[in-house]
Amino acid sequence: MPTDAARPVLRREIAGASVAALAKEHGTPLYVYDAEMIRRRCRDLAAWDTVRFAQKACSNIAILDLVRREGVMVDAVSTGEIHRALAAGYTPHAAAGSAAAAGLPPVHPIVYTADIFDRDALDAVAKLGIHCNCGSADMLEQLAERVPGASVTLRVNPGFGHGHSQKTNTGGEGSKHGIWHADIPEVLRRAEWAGLSVTGLHMHIGSGTDLAHLAEVAGALEQVAREIGRSLTTISAGGGLPVPYKPGEVHADLSGYFTLWDATRKKLEDVFGHRIRLEIEPGRYLTAESGYVVTEVRAVKKQGGRKYVLVDAGFNTLARPVLYGSYHPMSLCPADGHARPEPDEVAVGGPLCESGDIFTQTDGGFVATRSLPAAQVGDLLVIEIAGAYGFVMASNYNSKPLPAEVLVDGGTPRLVRARQTPDDLIRGERV
Ligand code: LLP
Repeated sequence: MPTDAARPVLRREIAGASVAALAKEHGTPLYVYDAEMIRRRCRDLAAWDTVRFAQKACSNIAILDLVRREGVMVDAVSTGEIHRALAAGYTPHAAAGSAAAAGLPPVHPIVYTADIFDRDALDAVAKLGIHCNCGSADMLEQLAERVPGASVTLRVNPGFGHGHSQKTNTGGEGSKHGIWHADIPEVLRRAEWAGLSVTGLHMHIGSGTDLAHLAEVAGALEQVAREIGRSLTTISAGGGLPVPYKPGEVHADLSGYFTLWDATRKKLEDVFGHRIRLEIEPGRYLTAESGYVVTEVRAVKKQGGRKYVLVDAGFNTLARPVLYGSYHPMSLCPADGHARPEPDEVAVGGPLCESGDIFTQTDGGFVATRSLPAAQVGDLLVIEIAGAYGFVMASNYNSKPLPAEVLVDGGTPRLVRARQTPDDLIRGERV
């Protein structure tokens, strides 16, 4: 049975707020975010002209508002995400003159990135004048029909990709994403025929990859940029920046990564004779480490030789372990406030009526164990680094309400989404 050697950890606070008090006031399971951690991660990327938050990672409008105040732009992959961006104070167009001062081409505060327009998304981008990053050539004619003369970004699949899981690899033949690199000449003809101007180029090869793979993208992008030519004003390195989840993992060398992309940008500026805006599009990097799921231990039991700690959060709350075998650090906040010096080797599971509802599992659904401080019913178990692809992938499976979300800033917690009620669960249904 695989296990990890992580030191059992006790945790009584999140960003200066008491875990016990948070659970008492808001109930469990509960998502808690550390505002200052998100700000810190935004500022880590200050060298880039534009940091564009891939809000699919964590789209609560309070979080979007927070990153907006840090000067971060936003990506939207659906009409719902456009709606969220607007609700958080983003506008489709930047204030006039804001980019000219830096000698840079204008920025699009909201970009719609997808491989298709569903009909409501096409209506929304046309009505609001939102810039589109097109991952298929069919999108070009559909957009041109509604917004004649629009400028567009092309999302290009460079023919290779990498992710923390095969399910998050977005490049190569195994991925549906982006316009295939070899099709660029043909797609440029289609864009010209449709009367569109190609001003942006974007590549995103996968999520949770490593810098060695990401670095290969800069060269691939440069090649396609030369094919597009002087209409190009913005290049985007996409997202994919990793964060350390497991003990022993470390943060990536961001300054080396920027230097690499900056060199690519400068080369293109020399070729084209004008400034090029350099964007990065992280999701996970900005919010993963800020987020915690606070759960309550509701049962501790043995199945033969294996001990299970069952909590009130399941894969309805945090789906990453069941989907990808993802590892999330865990800590314990004992109910009695006392230390629990004795470590225990346990599997951690949730309340759902499905065997796969296990947080300590490896890819393929194999149950693993974790060394945790000995847990008792009533203790709080905190699942960490859950701020990216956490709440946004939560579901109502087993008719469980979506949890509340709390943002802690300066030690003060603020409820930013109320827990769903039983009536929320059946809203819109008819007998
Ligand atoms: N840009 C594009 C076009 C993307 O498709 C994504 C992620 C990102 C940026 C942000 O990637 P990040 O910086 O967060 O790695 N549910 C999975 C991750 C799916 C990512 C989908 N696209 C997980 O929990 O790991």
